[in-house]
Amino acid sequence: MKLIVIGSGGREHMIIKKLKENPEVEKIYALPGNGGIADLAECVAVSATDIEGITAFAVEHAVDYAVVTPDDPLALGAVDALNAVGIPCFGPVQKAAVIEASKSFAKDLMRRYNIPTAAYEVFDDMDAALAYIKTSALPIVIKADGLALGKGVVIAETREDAEQAVRSMMADKAFGDAGSRVVVEEYLEGPEVSVLTFTDGKTLVPMVSSMDHKRALDGDKGLNTGGMGAIAPNPFYTKEIAEESMNTIFLPTIRAMEAEGREFRGCLYFSLMLTKDGPKVIEYNCRFGDPETQAVLPLLESDLLTIMMKVTEGTLKPEDVVFREGASCCVILASAGYPGKYEKGFPIAIEDSVKDRVIVAGAALKDGVLVTNGGRVLGVIGLGSTVKEAVADAYSQAEHVSFENAFCRKDIGQKAIQEG
Ligand code: AMP
Ligand code: GLY
Repeated sequence: MKLIVIGSGGREHMIIKKLKENPEVEKIYALPGNGGIADLAECVAVSATDIEGITAFAVEHAVDYAVVTPDDPLALGAVDALNAVGIPCFGPVQKAAVIEASKSFAKDLMRRYNIPTAAYEVFDDMDAALAYIKTSALPIVIKADGLALGKGVVIAETREDAEQAVRSMMADKAFGDAGSRVVVEEYLEGPEVSVLTFTDGKTLVPMVSSMDHKRALDGDKGLNTGGMGAIAPNPFYTKEIAEESMNTIFLPTIRAMEAEGREFRGCLYFSLMLTKDGPKVIEYNCRFGDPETQAVLPLLESDLLTIMMKVTEGTLKPEDVVFREGASCCVILASAGYPGKYEKGFPIAIEDSVKDRVIVAGAALKDGVLVTNGGRVLGVIGLGSTVKEAVADAYSQAEHVSFENAFCRKDIGQKAIQEG
């Protein structure tokens, strides 16, 4: 089989690694891929948001199956476009991807179908939003409605900060059109859990749970990033909470989407807060998480391509998805300065002994040498029978990878280890 995978991050590198385990796969094209992916797939210089370019390429090369993982092409209708030219895809169609692309859609869906989430109001008018936050409880959470690279969320401790967040999104357009509408919501407290699931629209099978580490610095300090590391499984997510989440959140969500004529097929990712009143949805994502995927997929025992194709066909069964016991950790090595300004172009040295544990995100090949080319450069995977072992393994593997100006968080997994 010939496949195309759309995207260029560590998540895509991990997915391609798993897809390659299937002996039926003869060739993978990554559009556009990255310097690390180039070892496994042919990287083609077509941007992930160039929907016409993607479909033209897929038709020209007679690909059998496509995997679309980033949020932008999904929101732009990449799956619809590929389906229209007869290419089956893993990923939701545009009208289902809206569950991530519009936070107000997602919140209204949860309200209509009684799915637990933070109380909220939606505003298209800045003065109304400003009036509302004058009397709301603090802290208060302000979110840009549209896609904002994970950066469109402000947790305001004071009224001044809340007002500034609303003005910067709605008047100064800090996130472009994504902020013309804002969602203002109640602040929730509790441990966070990421649950990625496979669903064919009717059957939903959760993957092993995980925990992201979004802030740049140790102790959850510093700015929000795309994610500085992840562990799986997440010890806060007990069997009881998993069962409750399935009944009050996961199944009601896919049924709601079906009832709305927006059947969701793909990876539906639930970002949950485990509050004292039970699990609540922080947000939905219409795709695999990054870097959660790099911690979750190493524990997947079943064949990824088989699962994906069953999702596409609508024949998914719970027994198709088997995870092995044990734990995994992904530590991200980033460029100094990230998520602010950083330099690029430094050669990356990876010792042979750890090559199969390195998942590349922001790196390019320059004259045959892998060089840094992004904020989050690569992830190092650790494995073990417990999270503690997996974390220790990840940091010890990371000692065999180096580039100038590298930094990483030193405390990935610590909260999970303390929980046990
Ligand atoms: P999101 O992009 O919606 O996942 O939000 C980014 C981060 O902001 C989340 O991972 C949470 O840590 C935090 N967050 C979002 N919504 C809330 C909320 N209602 N209460 C507390 N924290 C939140
Ligand atoms: N890890 C957060 C995300 O993928 O959105």
